[in-house]
Amino acid sequence: MWWCAGLWTVLSAFIFSIAADPYLERAVQLMAQTPLIDGHNDLPWQLRSKFNNQLNNVDLNTLNSTHTNIPKIKAGRLAAQFWAAYVPCDTQNKDAVRQTLEQIDVIHRMCEKYPEDFMFATSSRDIMEAFTQNKMASLIGVEGGHSMDSSLATLRTLYQLGVRYMTLTHSCNTPWVDNWLVDTGSDPSENNGLSDFGFQVIKEMNRLGMMVDLAHVSERVMKQVLNVSEAPVIFSHSSAYGVCPHKRNVPDDILKLVKEKEGVVMVNFYNDYVTCSDKANLSQVADHFDHIKKVAGASIIGFGGDYDGVERVPEGLENVSKYPALVAELLRRNWTNEEVQMALGKNLLRVFEKVEQVRDSEHQAVPSDVLIPYERVKNTCRTSYGYDVPSSGGDLLALSHLLLVLCALLSLL
Ligand SMILES: *[C@@H]1O[C@H](CO)[C@@H](O)[C@H](O)[C@H]1NC(C)=O
Ligand SMILES: *[C@@H]1O[C@H](CO)[C@@H](O)[C@H](O)[C@H]1NC(C)=O
Ligand SMILES: *[C@@H]1O[C@H](CO)[C@@H](O)[C@H](O)[C@H]1NC(C)=O
Ligand SMILES: *[C@@H]1O[C@H](CO)[C@@H](O)[C@H](O)[C@H]1NC(C)=O
Ligand SMILES: *[C@@H]1O[C@H](CO)[C@@H](O)[C@H](O)[C@H]1NC(C)=O
Ligand SMILES: [Zn+2]
Repeated sequence: MWWCAGLWTVLSAFIFSIAADPYLERAVQLMAQTPLIDGHNDLPWQLRSKFNNQLNNVDLNTLNSTHTNIPKIKAGRLAAQFWAAYVPCDTQNKDAVRQTLEQIDVIHRMCEKYPEDFMFATSSRDIMEAFTQNKMASLIGVEGGHSMDSSLATLRTLYQLGVRYMTLTHSCNTPWVDNWLVDTGSDPSENNGLSDFGFQVIKEMNRLGMMVDLAHVSERVMKQVLNVSEAPVIFSHSSAYGVCPHKRNVPDDILKLVKEKEGVVMVNFYNDYVTCSDKANLSQVADHFDHIKKVAGASIIGFGGDYDGVERVPEGLENVSKYPALVAELLRRNWTNEEVQMALGKNLLRVFEKVEQVRDSEHQAVPSDVLIPYERVKNTCRTSYGYDVPSSGGDLLALSHLLLVLCALLSLL
């Protein structure tokens, strides 16, 4: 098959470069012992924007317009991926839940279509099981709290479908939590960080065993969640503010809190977060790894490339085939084998296992029945069923507006 030839070209180039670089050789050895777990990849969103999620028209072995495909995953020794079930903020209060379900569906379908390459995974054990079977563990993270439409029942249903982390916001506030744009001044604070309902969301995520992802939230939310979450938290794709002062990155004092809480910060490769400019290279990404290690130790670091979610990636990290080059760079910078293995996957596995333990220890806790106050979510796309307010309230309101308009028109005659 012709793509075999292509794969061979890639592999032989790879083997050649290993021979030329002892650090790369060591990197690949370590990646054979410890799974590389990446926190965030937006290939599912590419499938929607390029193919309307019509997976029958897509071949992930030959797809070449994305950062991610199966041969690149294999060359990159990527062992586990949290795929983002992301839908944009303009779906909020409209069809966010349906769109999110469609992204979850396309991730399930990817795993079913390529059973030799992907294994759908929902636990820390699944990640290791896939690794021993030489398949990539495929997990789901929902990116943006707007996807649960302010409903704990919807959150629980997402968990049932296999979702194992939720990023509390994308780049918009939800009716219960503020996003990072509050810190740049371009969005107003609408919840003073987390609202009372927001705290209930964290509690319910802890009870369910769904990891809380603090990428994209405001700094106040980071502090509030780190203070109250029973389980450790993750930043699935954020870099170090100390290296590039972008509000999507994590400040040093927060890195220290993450350390106390035994969480993990998975470094984002997006040029703009790496250098605060549109140009970056692999070595500058490694600077973020070094900085986080210096401030809080290697036990909180991970990889969160954000591939296929961003337009600009660093020179040397053009696509998912390049992870080993970054691992080699860390070794070149005198990272120990143990530190590299922690960053590759041990840290995330530790967090995931702890989140599962918290879930198991709370197995007698009952699901929360708390509703978000109706006033916070009242809008024309939402009925009030389930609230103690007239269920036809919206219709009556619309009718009274219509009458007002009619009266105004009549008075003009
Ligand atoms: C990418 O794939 C398309 C469609 O399969 C093909 O026509 C094109 O030649 C490929 N481009 C490269 C650079 O391989
Ligand atoms: C991506 O990865 C392949 C190896 O899998 C490499 O040959 C290619 O040049 C890369 N593509 C781009 C656009 O950088
Ligand atoms: C941390 O949470 C406790 C209650 O759980 C609260 O009393 C305290 O003020 C919080 N601290 C911060 C810094 O938010
Ligand atoms: C990466 O970019 C920096 C800043 O432009 C430069 O000093 C450095 O030499 C580059 N490193 C590599 C490996 O290209
Ligand atoms: C790595 O360690 C060696 C030997 O201790 C030292 O000579 C070298 O400067 C170190 N490199 C870096 C980047 O710290
Ligand atoms: Zn993101």
